[in-house]
Amino acid sequence: MKKGLFVLILSVLLITLAACGDDSAGGSSGEAGTVGISMPTQSSERWIADGNNMVEQFEELGYATNLQYAEDVIENQLDQIENMITRGVDVLVIAPIDGDALTEVLELAASMDIPVISYDRLIRNSDHVSYYATFDNFQVGVLQGEYIEEALGLADGEGPFNIEIFAGSPDDNNAYFFFDGAMSVLQPYIDNGQLVVPSGQTDFQQGATLRWDGSLAQERMDNLLSGFYTDKTLDAVLSPFDGISIGIISSLKGVGYGEDDLPMPIVTGQDAERPSIVSIINGEQTQTIFKDTRELAAKAVQMADAVLKGEEAEVNDTETYDNGVKVVPAYLLAPISVDINNYREVLVNSGYYDESDFEDE
Ligand code: GAL
Repeated sequence: MKKGLFVLILSVLLITLAACGDDSAGGSSGEAGTVGISMPTQSSERWIADGNNMVEQFEELGYATNLQYAEDVIENQLDQIENMITRGVDVLVIAPIDGDALTEVLELAASMDIPVISYDRLIRNSDHVSYYATFDNFQVGVLQGEYIEEALGLADGEGPFNIEIFAGSPDDNNAYFFFDGAMSVLQPYIDNGQLVVPSGQTDFQQGATLRWDGSLAQERMDNLLSGFYTDKTLDAVLSPFDGISIGIISSLKGVGYGEDDLPMPIVTGQDAERPSIVSIINGEQTQTIFKDTRELAAKAVQMADAVLKGEEAEVNDTETYDNGVKVVPAYLLAPISVDINNYREVLVNSGYYDESDFEDE
């Protein structure tokens, strides 16, 4: 056998073996194909649930899966995706850390004809994105804004109240949708004086929290409290994500909020993560947004399966998500606002959590 041919056959063999290698294929032989699932971080419970739900649902359809978490480091995510591509996955499902950072690695995926599904967060600046499975992200913000509006009685003319505004990570397209949705409700009350922002920090960039990091939010809240609240009390905080809410609440507790003479302000959130539900039960965080990761996983699985079979996936939005190169056809699921009054009905009765999940903290 010619040496070149031998090397070629050997490489193909090795690549095939590697592709079958350490996929997290608990129950599936992978006869339907292999799916590379790239998730941003395990530091927040929701992404762990997202990853597990997808593995389970893909395996039910006969796919093998290769699930990787990048721990919020962009280079890790790029390396992991490149690795999945060289191992010959059939399709990629990606929730990007930085929506703008994947252009090049997706060119590699395109050259190997590996389709890509954007998961929860929009992949920007690439035409190699077939579909986008997400929630109605503007509506998430609207629900947070409306919660504050209702809790403070703003529509009935109550006020003035003091509020501070936090936003998500500036490299995550979702963060702008959440902010714009919430401000579509709150801005008119800021303009007419029913809501006052003592720090004056009302722009997205002023409230932004890189990588959704709760400790950065805590630090910012510390600074706001010492800088603007020595002679005022805070009535509400717009927080876009539970991890940020928990940081904000630590800061508030540090200066005595939550004690009898100084009630906790209204603090919103998102993701219905366990520590936040416990916090809601304990009367600290006020609200969160439930986004059922089982349903989101199901949408992504349907999209990947359809693309691989050469079929069209079901979408319900073909206008909103322009990623800078194309409008990505999307399926938007409906977010649900949750507080002390409905957490059981929404989270426990649906089987997402068990009541005992909230006991151990
Ligand atoms: C967003 C996501 C939110 C929250 C946040 C921080 O992209 O839509 O639900 O999880 O990231 O992880």
